[in-house]
Amino acid sequence: MIKFDCKNADIRVVGQENGLDIAQEFTNYQDKIAQIIAELNKRKDKPGQWLQWLNLGYNEETLWYVKEYASLVRGRFDNILVLGIGGSALGGIAVTEALLKPYWNLLTPEQRNDFPRIFFLDNIDPDNMNGLLDILDLKRTLVNVITKSGSTAETMSQFMIVKDRLEQVLDDDYRKNVVATTDKQTGVLRQIAEQEGYKTFVVPDDVGGRFSVFSAVGLLPFALVGIDIDEIVNGIKDMDLALKNTDIHENIAAQNALIQYLMDVKNGKNISVMMPYSSRLKYVSDWYVQLWAESLGKSEDLQGNHTHIGPTPIRALGATDQHSQIQLYNEGPNDKIINFIRVEEFDTTLDIPKIFEYTGIGYLGGKTINELINAEADSTRVSLSDYARPTVTITLPKVDGYHVGQLLYMLEVQTAIAGALYNINAFDQPGVEQAKNYTYALMGRAGYEDSAKTLQTKMASAAGL
Ligand code: PA5
Repeated sequence: MIKFDCKNADIRVVGQENGLDIAQEFTNYQDKIAQIIAELNKRKDKPGQWLQWLNLGYNEETLWYVKEYASLVRGRFDNILVLGIGGSALGGIAVTEALLKPYWNLLTPEQRNDFPRIFFLDNIDPDNMNGLLDILDLKRTLVNVITKSGSTAETMSQFMIVKDRLEQVLDDDYRKNVVATTDKQTGVLRQIAEQEGYKTFVVPDDVGGRFSVFSAVGLLPFALVGIDIDEIVNGIKDMDLALKNTDIHENIAAQNALIQYLMDVKNGKNISVMMPYSSRLKYVSDWYVQLWAESLGKSEDLQGNHTHIGPTPIRALGATDQHSQIQLYNEGPNDKIINFIRVEEFDTTLDIPKIFEYTGIGYLGGKTINELINAEADSTRVSLSDYARPTVTITLPKVDGYHVGQLLYMLEVQTAIAGALYNINAFDQPGVEQAKNYTYALMGRAGYEDSAKTLQTKMASAAGL
């Protein structure tokens, strides 16, 4: 199991003003936490609660269909191209970066065990998109278009371009190169998929984009590139069991939710940095940033009072960002809590040769890069506590499917518990929807004429300033 250590957030390490009396806070909040966990488990099967992601580890049917389709298309494609944005892409990027061999797309087919390369288009930069489409052999590319709503302008415009190019090279046969992941009934993509006869997978009801990585949204691309999805699911299930424990002392998601929350509301540390010491986990930070920001940044509490709350998540990478951000974290405003992620055992041990012994770098010879990266994690943590900066550490025994599944699932549950502590709805995103609606209005979508008028008035008055 992954482990969690919060000693360096305690008053005994970082002082009264910056730390928490963690043992005392666990006691103070035990009843509240037990009530939140019990409530989550009670509500999780009720429609409209947006808690179905808590059941994704047990969705045998999806697992079966995903594996069946992946084995059916095995060998037919050299590339998987995922079209999606936000929650429809970030989990896929995080997990494939973590679990595929590094530099996967540069490996030969033999080195990839004849599994395809994988590309995610999660933006609409024309140069970037055109650049990728120019180098992919579309005849040998399976396009997985993912959008829960089925109408997101970024994803659907990408899809319109890609569909057109696929048709140019494949004619009617292009359909075999498309698989759509979307709502089971509603949305434009569902309508198109049915008309055109695409293979489809479902984003389940009551699973929001940022909580969808363990649905077909993530599992399908993972299986297509040969990632063992059973291993991931086993990790989620074991973590789910552990996180059902209502005793905060045994529940690491509850512990970190409470620490992050209290650091914000009691100690004024409203910035939460995610800093894995592993390049393979680099994009877990991007995924976490979306999860934390979209879930917790809200203008109203559950009673409808104006609150405008939410911690600001920041992504960082160890050891790289020791040479960019740590100066600020050590000596700048003491307004952050830093989440380290540490890996106990890397797949590779890289020895540093005993050379240049007569110079100032001689001490490195005979050590390993593995020792160096973990020494840097430890020394940075100690140096941060010297400056009275609180940190917590999540430790993964290994970067494998089992533990990465656990990590992401733990962070999802942590977010849900933090939402309850902040007394907000962690599962909606009205701020995102508003920007989407303005985009539809600007681009002339039918039904958005009123928004278009409001927008034009606001833009004109801003231009006149
Ligand atoms: O988490 C969310 O709800 C959002 O980030 C969505 O995933 C994102 O806006 C994309 O939406 P959709 O999947 O409907 O295209």
